[in-house]
Amino acid sequence: MFTEQNFWQAYGSYFVKGTGITIVLTIIGVLFGSLLGTLLALMKRAHSKIIKAIATVYIQYFRGTPLLVQVFMIYFGTQVIGINVSAFVSAAIALSLNSGAYVSEVIRSGIQSVAKGQTEAARSLGLSSKKAMRLVVLPQAIKTILPALGNEFISLLKESAIVSVIGVGELMFQTTVVQGSSFKPFLPLVITSLIYFVLTLILSLLLRYFEKKMKVGKAK
Ligand code: ARG
Repeated sequence: MFTEQNFWQAYGSYFVKGTGITIVLTIIGVLFGSLLGTLLALMKRAHSKIIKAIATVYIQYFRGTPLLVQVFMIYFGTQVIGINVSAFVSAAIALSLNSGAYVSEVIRSGIQSVAKGQTEAARSLGLSSKKAMRLVVLPQAIKTILPALGNEFISLLKESAIVSVIGVGELMFQTTVVQGSSFKPFLPLVITSLIYFVLTLILSLLLRYFEKKMKVGKAK
C-alpha cells in the first residue's frame, strides 16, 4: 500500500500531464469559440434572413443539446464520414463548436447593453451605421463582453472534463487512470478537484483584477 507521499511520487506526473492537456484544450476551445462566436453574432445581425436563420438554429442547437452528446457525435461522426482525427482533435472541435454558440450570445448581449441613444447620437452626427458600431458601440460593449468571455473560459475549463469519455488524456481522464491503478477511489478525486479549484480561482482573480482596471476609464 502507498503512503500519501509516495502516492504523489508514483502518480503526480499523471495529474501534471492531465492538467496541461486540460489547459491546452480550454485555450483552444475559447480561442476558436470566440472566432466562431463573433462570426455567429455578425451573422445574426445580417440582413439576409437565411444567414440569420442559420446562425439562430446553430446557436439553439449547440446550447440546447448536452455537450456530452456533442462530444460523442463529433468523435463518431468524423469516423463515419471517413475523417480520421484523434480523440484530442475531436474534443477540441466539440469544445470550440459548443463554445462558439455561447460566445455569440455573450457578444450579442454585450452589444445590447449599450444604450440605444449611443447609436442614435452617433448616427445623428453623421456616422454610417457601420462606423457607429465600430467607433461608438463596440468600444463600450467590450467592457461587458470581456468579463463575460472570462466567465466562458472558466466554464469551459470545467466542462472540458466531459471529454474524458472519449479517452482524451486530460485531468479527469488521468484521475480515472490513477483511481484504477492505485486502487484508491477517493484520493485522486480530491487532488483533481483541488487542481480545478485552484485553476478557476486564479482565473477569477485575474478576471476581477482586469475588470477593476477597465472600470477606471469608464464614464460615470
Ligand atoms: N454542461 C452544459 C452542457 O452539457 C453546459 C455547457 C456549457 N458550455 C459552454 N461553452 N459554456 O451542455
